[in-house]
Amino acid sequence: MKVLLCDDEENIRSLMKRFFSLEAIDCDTAENGLSAQRMLRESAYDAVLVDLRMPGLDGLSLIKWLRAEGFRMPIIMISAHGEITDAVTALKEGADDYVVKPFDPEELVIKLKNLVEASNLKNLVEGGKRLDMLIGDSPEMLRIKSVIAKAALSSATVLITGESGTGKEVVAREIHNLSNVKDGPFIPINIGGIPENLLESELFGYEKGAFTGASSRKNGMFELASGGTLFLDEIGDMPLSLQVKILRVLQERKMTRLGGVEQIPINARIVAATNKNLEEMVKKGDFREDLFYRLNVVRIEIPPLRERSEDIPLLAAYIIRKLSRDMSSRITGFTPEAIEALKSHHFYGNVRELENIIERAMIFTDSSTIDVKDLDLRSSVSRSMKKNEELSSSRDARSLRDLEKDAIIAALHRWEGNRTKASEELGITRRTLISKIKEYDIKL
Ligand SMILES: Nc1ncnc2c1ncn2[C@@H]1O[C@H](COP(=O)(O)OP(=O)(O)OP(=O)(O)O)[C@@H](O)[C@H]1O
Ligand SMILES: [Mg+2]
Repeated sequence: MKVLLCDDEENIRSLMKRFFSLEAIDCDTAENGLSAQRMLRESAYDAVLVDLRMPGLDGLSLIKWLRAEGFRMPIIMISAHGEITDAVTALKEGADDYVVKPFDPEELVIKLKNLVEASNLKNLVEGGKRLDMLIGDSPEMLRIKSVIAKAALSSATVLITGESGTGKEVVAREIHNLSNVKDGPFIPINIGGIPENLLESELFGYEKGAFTGASSRKNGMFELASGGTLFLDEIGDMPLSLQVKILRVLQERKMTRLGGVEQIPINARIVAATNKNLEEMVKKGDFREDLFYRLNVVRIEIPPLRERSEDIPLLAAYIIRKLSRDMSSRITGFTPEAIEALKSHHFYGNVRELENIIERAMIFTDSSTIDVKDLDLRSSVSRSMKKNEELSSSRDARSLRDLEKDAIIAALHRWEGNRTKASEELGITRRTLISKIKEYDIKL
């Protein structure tokens, strides 16, 4: 068991550390809330012990932050006499138990062991359920979180855009979970994944006898999502012929099943997402402008991970906790060098790529902390530039910058210098591409 003790009193830290070691409990210590945050981002802990009164970031704020960031380990609060109201607040904010100074170390250890055991059991039971939280505290993510909070309270249609793997589905679920239809269903439909000829009946359902093979009535997704949220994923793949039908449904808030006449009211909240550039598609006539404006009431644009590398330590810590639960692994964290390497890695596959890198490292590492050498970032770059057959077999001997430069040249070559197309293929914005062309002094 590994715990983090956060207390500004040096003698409590050293005393408890010694006491814990007798109990075979591995204990890291932090002297204030800020250094605790840093340590929590870098290692996984089974429990956290937090002193309430500390200079800088106090215990209460630390507890709030822990829960807001999705840490689910038990928290025990350490308070002094006369802080009972604070103690109550701390329990409300998500602490699991408390001890009052001066406390009996024995009593603390018993509480700790019970809580960790109960929490492990709970994780075991919930193991299969993937409750992803939206992690990140970069300015961009904080802004997105506040838009989500506001949007969730209204019934406005939300359009989420961002590259593949940036977390569009996580955001969609978060909106649902914070909304007043959270007890209703969340129905995702992957527009791109359904054959065009089935899409209409999937969305709208049909009456018995509507067409050959319609042997009984079938409800469509719009109806199934009633009282909940309909998540139209990959909306950019919606065929033009269906776009006009969707538009009508969104405008009139009513629909009919295929082969039916009955007008069925739609009362599902609509969230749509795409990794395509809808504005561009509208210009080219591939996406209806009127539908675009209908969907684009609230817009959430998730920036690529490489443009918010401040999120990487928290995300990495979160992913390792999530995966070690699934893989029942004892890997607890990263070396500072590994975190630095991840922060400077040029992600093309965003958080999904980060998850893959970490999962691979967890399988291959021999140690309980993941180091740079376990990360294999180079092959991740070449993999995420999958279409890049032009890369020579000597790729391993070359630097990341060389790989990136080659990928850009190859993409520009394939698209005959068309920067928009090339940037789409590379999964970077056109602006980023142009600045890279300058940076690498690529002659066209
Ligand atoms: N901010 C985040 N916090 C926690 N997990 C995240 C975050 N962003 C992404 N993830 C994780 O990364 C993976 C990819 O996220 P998600 O499926 O939501 O991406 P997406 O934008 O829908 O990608 P695609 O366009 O390929 O469908 C998921 O496993 C998700 O849990
Ligand atoms: Mg998705």
